[in-house]
Amino acid sequence: MSVLCPPTTYLPPIAKIASFSVTQLLDALTYLQSLYHPEVRGSRRKRVQAPVFNGEQNSRLRHEDDNELQVIRSDAFERSYSIRWLTALIAQLEVWQDLSHSGEASLDDLGKPEPTFTHAEMIVQQAASLLAICAGVAAAGMITRNFIFGSIDGQRRVEAQLTDIPLDNDDYRSVGAQTWGGACVLAEMIVEDPERFGLDFSPDDPKSRRLNVLELGAGTGLVSLAIMKLLDTLPSFNHREVSVVATDFHPSVLANLKSNINANVPSTHNQITSTHFITTHFLDWSSLSTAPPPNCLSYPFDVVFGADIIYEAQHAVWIRDCLKAHLRRPFDSTISPAAFHLVIPLRPTHTFESSTVESVFLKASDVDPNDDAVLVILSKESITCDAHGDAHGDYTRGQGLGEDVEYLYYRIGWSNARL
Ligand SMILES: C[S@@+](CC[C@H](N)C(=O)[O-])C[C@H]1O[C@@H](n2cnc3c(N)ncnc32)[C@H](O)[C@@H]1O
Repeated sequence: MSVLCPPTTYLPPIAKIASFSVTQLLDALTYLQSLYHPEVRGSRRKRVQAPVFNGEQNSRLRHEDDNELQVIRSDAFERSYSIRWLTALIAQLEVWQDLSHSGEASLDDLGKPEPTFTHAEMIVQQAASLLAICAGVAAAGMITRNFIFGSIDGQRRVEAQLTDIPLDNDDYRSVGAQTWGGACVLAEMIVEDPERFGLDFSPDDPKSRRLNVLELGAGTGLVSLAIMKLLDTLPSFNHREVSVVATDFHPSVLANLKSNINANVPSTHNQITSTHFITTHFLDWSSLSTAPPPNCLSYPFDVVFGADIIYEAQHAVWIRDCLKAHLRRPFDSTISPAAFHLVIPLRPTHTFESSTVESVFLKASDVDPNDDAVLVILSKESITCDAHGDAHGDYTRGQGLGEDVEYLYYRIGWSNARL
């Protein structure tokens, strides 16, 4: 039995909006938000507390409703009704606020005792941003989401706002226009435990040492942005130089990546004058240039990240070659060895492509560390997520709506780093 209603059925009638309580209106608003401002599919890990997306959204749609959700969301009539309803809601809340500010009536007089006016202002803001989504960007196929990640102990909080642009249906290579569950999972894990991902300095590290971070196939930039924002919060990175380079190869994906980064970090972070800086750069794994690399890619990287970047037969080989060129080789036992952190979804439609990770990179235990250095799998972990969320992007659809989404997390590094 369906739990999904179109806005015309679910929302309080526009003509009677003034007779509903603020709590009822807030519930309706949250419902609209779940329709038009969805979370990323397969981004909620099962073992840990769910991250909070889209503000404090608490009414999530059940995954069995995904198909129905797509139908409602793409219905122009429902969307235009939602726009009218949101406009009426904002107008009504403003009337209540004006009455209250002028002292002519209090919320209690108006029979709206539950939330305070601070809540009412918050509702106006939420309604306005949802209105913008329904009226503008969403109609154009764009979605802007807030991602909030936190450390387990609640001491750290990292927030980023990312815009997905429409996939170009004629260009399969434009998949990075949208944020994928793998990036959500990886960003969440990094913020929870930065040390596990080499995002720390040991007390023995020379003060002059700079941390160089590279992301391959960054797409909308969630992982790179989460790292940059996280490092800003860590005391051990005060006054330390950090460079994060987010790379991709597709022109429109790269343009959106740049725009997301500019929208999220202070402009000083894009400048060399800051001690922490983040840049975007073109990098195509399939054709590593023989020309000298640009400055920002010329140094070896201490940590490399990749989320959902193995879905074609050649990808693992190209990524290995890219790592050979860019992952710092072990040269100093006082510095933690460099590593590549990779999260891939296990799509039933792409089992061969996923399996190439383990044929291209051997297990560390199968390689003699005294032989010439090769890149090996140092560890592997399975991660299961609820499938909830937006089932965008046709190439994951084989996963089956409503099923769990499985990921593998690999840590890959140089075989001789263990010597
Ligand atoms: C499925 S998307 C994942 C994007 C992002 N990491 C995420 O998880 O949201 C795959 C990404 O790899 C990039 N990509 C694919 N082939 C590439 C290549 N040959 N060189 C560089 N990037 C590539 C795509 O442009 C896209 O951004």
